[in-house]
Amino acid sequence: MSAPTVRVLGDAQGVAEAAADQVIAAATAAVAARGIFHLCTTGGSTPAALYRALREPSRAAQMPWRETQIWFGDDRFVPRADPLSNVAPLDAQLLTASPNGAASPLVASAVHPWPTTAADAPTAVGAYLEELRAAGVPHTPAGFPIFDLVLIGIGGDGHCLSVFPGSPLALEGASVAAGVPAPTHIEPQVPRLSFSLGVLASARAVLALAPGAGKADALARIFTTATVLADAPAKAALIPQATWLLDTASAEKLPA
Ligand code: 6PG
Repeated sequence: MSAPTVRVLGDAQGVAEAAADQVIAAATAAVAARGIFHLCTTGGSTPAALYRALREPSRAAQMPWRETQIWFGDDRFVPRADPLSNVAPLDAQLLTASPNGAASPLVASAVHPWPTTAADAPTAVGAYLEELRAAGVPHTPAGFPIFDLVLIGIGGDGHCLSVFPGSPLALEGASVAAGVPAPTHIEPQVPRLSFSLGVLASARAVLALAPGAGKADALARIFTTATVLADAPAKAALIPQATWLLDTASAEKLPA
């Protein structure tokens, strides 16, 4: 794997603010080059602080919201209104009016959740891949959407997206996306829908957000051991177009 950029911030808020600045930079470059910004966001606990940072007036004014389309690298196979949905933090932090009453800078039609009301995972996956094609998102010859920026969080088990250790989605030649059975080793234990790891290599840029002491062991395995991709799928983000945003607590076990 080739080296990504690694930045160590003071804490999780520093990670969120640095991530917001990188989202703005990626959006500005994408809109300048192609007139549109396709962001693929993630789930877990990091996006909410990022979304809040993006709505701060100084940052919100820099963001090309009208040209931004938001997709999801994975989701839990639950209704959008379910607090476990990866759309819930975005609905709460980006699509609602801000505390001072300012309207959302995004229009709801710019947000593209996985169709979790579908009858089953294959139907949901097929519909989402079709929606990406219909939206004009460019694709690789292998069929992966080329997002301008893919955000990922890093699980304590070394997963990213919903590609858990041992997942067939971590293997060479995996399908572009698939349903994932409910994991039993990590919460929430609900079925998922996820792109496979190829969506990272296909992206113009990747941003991995991993603050907090709880990530220190996983990051040490990802960055310092020869463990294989199937055992630590987030190693797939050790690529030149990736930036890893850590904090001093999560970087604790990494070499200086
Ligand atoms: C999800 C995410 C998942 C998440 C990691 C890290 O559906 O939960 O896609 O990959 O990003 O589990 O989550 P935290 O940042 O909350 O630890």
